[in-house]
Amino acid sequence: MSEVCENWTQWLKQNRFAGQTPEMIEQTIKWLEAVRDVILVYAEIQPHETILDIGTGTGLLAFKALELQNCKGNVIFSDKFQDCLLDCQRILDQSCINEGYQMLLCPCEHIALPDSTVHKALMRSVLVHIVNKQPAINEIYRVLKPGGKFCAFEPIISSNTRYWEILDPVYIDKYEDFKKAENEMMENPLDSLCNFDQNTLKMNLEIAGFSNSDVKLQEVKSNYVVQEGMVAQWFNNPPSPGQPTTKERYMKYFDEGAVDKFISDAQKYLTGREISLKTNAVFINATK
Ligand SMILES: C[S@@+](CC[C@H](N)C(=O)[O-])C[C@H]1O[C@@H](n2cnc3c(N)ncnc32)[C@H](O)[C@@H]1O
Repeated sequence: MSEVCENWTQWLKQNRFAGQTPEMIEQTIKWLEAVRDVILVYAEIQPHETILDIGTGTGLLAFKALELQNCKGNVIFSDKFQDCLLDCQRILDQSCINEGYQMLLCPCEHIALPDSTVHKALMRSVLVHIVNKQPAINEIYRVLKPGGKFCAFEPIISSNTRYWEILDPVYIDKYEDFKKAENEMMENPLDSLCNFDQNTLKMNLEIAGFSNSDVKLQEVKSNYVVQEGMVAQWFNNPPSPGQPTTKERYMKYFDEGAVDKFISDAQKYLTGREISLKTNAVFINATK
């Protein structure tokens, strides 16, 4: 039922673009680079510092940090999953880069580094995949040197535009039931994707001990015309490897036939229409 997604490298290179047109993919890549650049401006990286990229994935932040340091510092590519580190290492090998970095395989809830050893900790879209965010933020605080900075970006999915908001009850079977189910899913405290917002993150940072923590909410509005097949892609693509797809999430509330009907009603209603989606996110800039 769900698209096969073996690991994070595959998700980052393929699955995250599911349901996007080539123009949208190009826009997404530009947006990722813009987010990366904001995080790095916040981080004020200096040449000889130790920089920890937590949940590096395909190395979006770490590769740029390495470039900014001209390979003269120590950029730590860290991830819970080996496939990510192997892929980053492969790229470094191909580019004959063999200094200024190290690989660290560990979950961010147990970072395999001594206390107070990192100047800057960077992160993008990792906490959103962790149910209990406090232990991870405590660990980041622990490994930072006094005065060190934690600079990050996380999507705030709970306040994004919901499906029911872009649909018309007249054209959707069981619209009210699906609306109720979606609202309930978005308030599930055990779902890492939506069990937090800017206020809970601010609280997590304060509890961890950060003396100065700025959590800036950013709301992005994007408009585009829905294409044939796009809704099925939204529903059949996992938000991360091994996680249930949106369709599977709805199947906790409805049988498969009802979910398929909802998807097909939504597709019929939306195809060719211009929709406006709100996507919220935060930039974190915190100092130990
Ligand atoms: C959405 S990707 C983001 C990757 C990268 N930071 C970027 O901006 O492209 C999430 C990353 O978090 C990693 N990850 C998930 N859970 C983790 C955990 N508990 N500890 C460390 N990394 C984790 C995944 O392996 C994946 O690389």
